[in-house]
Amino acid sequence: MKTQKVTGFALLAGAGLFSLSLATGAWAADINKLVDACTQCHERDGASHDPNMPIIGGYSEPYVISSLTAYKKKSRTCPEIEYLHGDKKVKLTDMCRIAKTLSEADIKKLAQYYASKKFRRANQDFDPELAKKGQQIHERDCEKCHSQAGSVASDDSGILAGQWTPYLKQQFMAFYTEKRMLASKMKPKFYKLDKTEMDALLNYYASFK
Ligand code: HEC
Ligand code: HEC
Repeated sequence: MKTQKVTGFALLAGAGLFSLSLATGAWAADINKLVDACTQCHERDGASHDPNMPIIGGYSEPYVISSLTAYKKKSRTCPEIEYLHGDKKVKLTDMCRIAKTLSEADIKKLAQYYASKKFRRANQDFDPELAKKGQQIHERDCEKCHSQAGSVASDDSGILAGQWTPYLKQQFMAFYTEKRMLASKMKPKFYKLDKTEMDALLNYYASFK
């Protein structure tokens, strides 16, 4: 009886240890596998070179969690896109389909991973005159929530300075057509902007290298 008990305990303890080491190994394998799927478009460290693909390395953990959750719930528009690298057998997909396959735990791991990377600004052309005008508009209407030209990740409002212009332009349109929800306080500021002002803002964000 006594021996049986000891053996039983030893077995349990052994099993516990085994699953613990398995879990640690699995964690690393797991995050690498998760990230591999993202690298196909957002590239290494989330520093995308494609102007339609947002740079996501260096975004804050809460922002990545909230955007992936929004895609998962389809409360944010998700235009179809081709895989840029890797397996090209699957031609088209979108962020909603991608996020749907992620668990809450996956989303958290991915968010921590990208938050630990540096935001690498895109190198793009801009018009200095328009950028100057854009700076004034930004300081008047946007700086409050997108501080230092929208370069502070912990504002949890995305990153604007150095983000790809074509991507930002698409988001402006998505906000404008209400395909993407606007923060309620951002609404009045945003809707009163005309096309030239939006253009000026885009040139301002593109001026950060
Ligand atoms: C097939 C290409 C593709 C793949 C693969 C992909 N993404 Fe995306 N991702 C995009 C595109 C395109 C957008 C912009 C969509 C939009 O307009 O909202 C985007 C947007 C995002 C955003 C929002 C960025 C912002 O500034 O708001 C995050 C966060 C993100 N992706 C994370 C991921 C993660 C994490 C993975 C891997 C699980 C992943 N993506 C895989 C193409 C891709
Ligand atoms: C009251 C706060 C507030 C103000 C003012 C504000 N924003 Fe935002 N903005 C936010 C928040 C919060 C988000 C993140 C929304 C989300 O998670 O979808 C955001 C997101 C964005 C994004 C998307 C970033 C990305 O990575 O996809 C853009 C572009 C943007 N804002 C531009 C502007 C511009 C331009 C102005 C000024 C005209 C402005 N915002 C004013 C709070 C604000």
